[in-house]
Amino acid sequence: MLTGMLATSRPHDPARTRDRVTQLSTASLRRVIDPDLDFDLVGSLGDGQVLPDELLSIHELPEFASLTLEQRARLSREEVASIVESGLRFEAVLMAGFSMEIFRNDDLTDPEVVYSLHEIGEETRHSRLFSRLLSQLEPTARNPLSRWRWVAAKIIPRILRRRATLDVLVLGGEEIPDLLQRKAAEHPDTDPFLREVNRYHRGEEARHLAYARAVLPSRLAEAGRVDRFLVRHVVPRVIHMMFDTLVHPGVYATVGLPTFDTWKRANKTPSRVALRHEATRPIVASLMAAGAMRDGRLTKPWRELAGVDASGQPLA
Ligand SMILES: [Fe+2]
Ligand SMILES: [Fe+2]
Repeated sequence: MLTGMLATSRPHDPARTRDRVTQLSTASLRRVIDPDLDFDLVGSLGDGQVLPDELLSIHELPEFASLTLEQRARLSREEVASIVESGLRFEAVLMAGFSMEIFRNDDLTDPEVVYSLHEIGEETRHSRLFSRLLSQLEPTARNPLSRWRWVAAKIIPRILRRRATLDVLVLGGEEIPDLLQRKAAEHPDTDPFLREVNRYHRGEEARHLAYARAVLPSRLAEAGRVDRFLVRHVVPRVIHMMFDTLVHPGVYATVGLPTFDTWKRANKTPSRVALRHEATRPIVASLMAAGAMRDGRLTKPWRELAGVDASGQPLA
């Protein structure tokens, strides 16, 4: 039954996938950037507010109006630190997943192995830059959710064995920051160094997204029952949680606001919901294009995550 629902409307074409993956490896080779050596990336953040008001998570809540300029600056630095920290942790999980895929592959000359090594190389380089950003931001917020990290550490290795699940999670973990970074990079009031970091990271992530999309049809075609179930029902919930926890509740305490109450309300503001929809609709589009679910059969957690109908079309 599950197999039927996950019909591969566009059966995967191994030759085309190999060509695309080889192209991406060539593109990565041509653009090796080390953020500790590249002229534009060795700088540091300025003082004060690093993100404009409208890109802060609580700018639509009434209490935002009473924050002083200093508090807004503080909040912006804490929010960026929270996003950077979740990005660094997500990339660590992604690298673990890719490394295990290499280990399990019988053919180490497979273009997917070679590309994975390029991607891991890029992730390690920009992760070093994220670590440097964190030391410049010096966040003081305590993340109340971090006490559950041991639960995630137990579950993650089990999820990483499922290749379709890993691939769709990677799409989620890369589409969301891509949109946030595009908005920050395009805004004139974003800190100039942060803008440069965002531009560099988006360039590398564009290839990673292209790879995740290119291999999705083959991952779905090879997926077992559990993997398919996870893709349809569990992954959208994990991505929803990833989005909501990008800015963790502890951040709000640094400007004297309640933690969980502010966090819950912030994630329900119209701009935050619109941002979630905009960031996750491309994932739904990739799933539908790869035939993950039949037209009209998109599952409820995906519909709620992206604000789309059962065919993946945006709701008004
Ligand atoms: Fe990355
Ligand atoms: Fe990436």
